[in-house]
Amino acid sequence: MAFPTETVYGLGADATNESAVAHIYRVKGRPADHPLIVHIGQLSQLDQWAIDIPDYAIALARDFWPGPMTLILKRSEKAKDFITGGQDSVGIRIPANPIALALLREFAGGIAAPSANRFGAISPTTAQAVKEEIGEFLDVHRDVILDGGPSLVGVESTIIECLEDSPRILRPGAITAEMIEKTTGLKIESSKSQTRASGLLDAHYAPKAKVFLLDPINPVVACIAGVGFIAAANHPTPDGAIRLAAPISDDEYASGLYEALREGDRKNLPAIYVIPPAGDGVAIAIRDRLQRAAFEGGSLR
Ligand code: TXA
Ligand code: MG
Repeated sequence: MAFPTETVYGLGADATNESAVAHIYRVKGRPADHPLIVHIGQLSQLDQWAIDIPDYAIALARDFWPGPMTLILKRSEKAKDFITGGQDSVGIRIPANPIALALLREFAGGIAAPSANRFGAISPTTAQAVKEEIGEFLDVHRDVILDGGPSLVGVESTIIECLEDSPRILRPGAITAEMIEKTTGLKIESSKSQTRASGLLDAHYAPKAKVFLLDPINPVVACIAGVGFIAAANHPTPDGAIRLAAPISDDEYASGLYEALREGDRKNLPAIYVIPPAGDGVAIAIRDRLQRAAFEGGSLR
């Protein structure tokens, strides 16, 4: 079942059912050694999936669940190799979307779910985007897409590894380093270096169009008519470019980013020029995803 969460749509299956989980990997076209996040509906279920949970992880769970945060914890017996990719750890999250929570509480077990996109593509933030990504690979007699409207956060959850004396950010998201430090009273390393260090994360989150990142101070778009353009509302649209988004805040930038990139692909644009947001907070996660999207376009990296 594909279902909405506040970050992005997930493609879910019973986390104890090996053949259902294998179907997720087939639909996504994802390598089998990539671990999945187990979604749960209540904090009381955490002990079923994880052991030796550090106090700081409990503090994070209490402050930020339900919410856009995944904790990487030492796995229990219940978290099998087909969930963890054979690792000794498991990713757990309680999402904040009311439909996701209702589904999880009704089911009462863990739901393993990656983002509901094909491997390497950008995550879907609407039910329509799920259909476009994986519709043709779903089994019409068995698989379902739940439509919960657009995802509010729009970028994937912050992934925090909680295996040592202090937390490490593996993927930046809406729960920021400052928020984690405030809750845990522990110092953590900057998200950027951690993300680069992780070999586990998806290699890219790329649309078909080539993504070029522009310098916010000098955003020159060499006059190519018909390219897409994404930037905060205060940046004017360059002559001949097709505006795909004009967010008025970083939150709005995050929630609309993937749909804007997808719209560029729907319009078959050859390239999308993007001025990334400059600030902290969720802007760090936006820049992280944009740099991954731009990698395939061969622009800034
Ligand atoms: O916001 C989200 O996290 C969304 C929604 C659906 O919950 N899910 C999501 O899942 O983004 P996915 O599979 O697309 O990305 C999860 C990332 C993967 O890069 C995976 O490698 C990493 O989490 N991950 C999962 N379990 C892990 C583990 N035990 N250790 C390290 N990384 C892990
Ligand atoms: Mg993903």
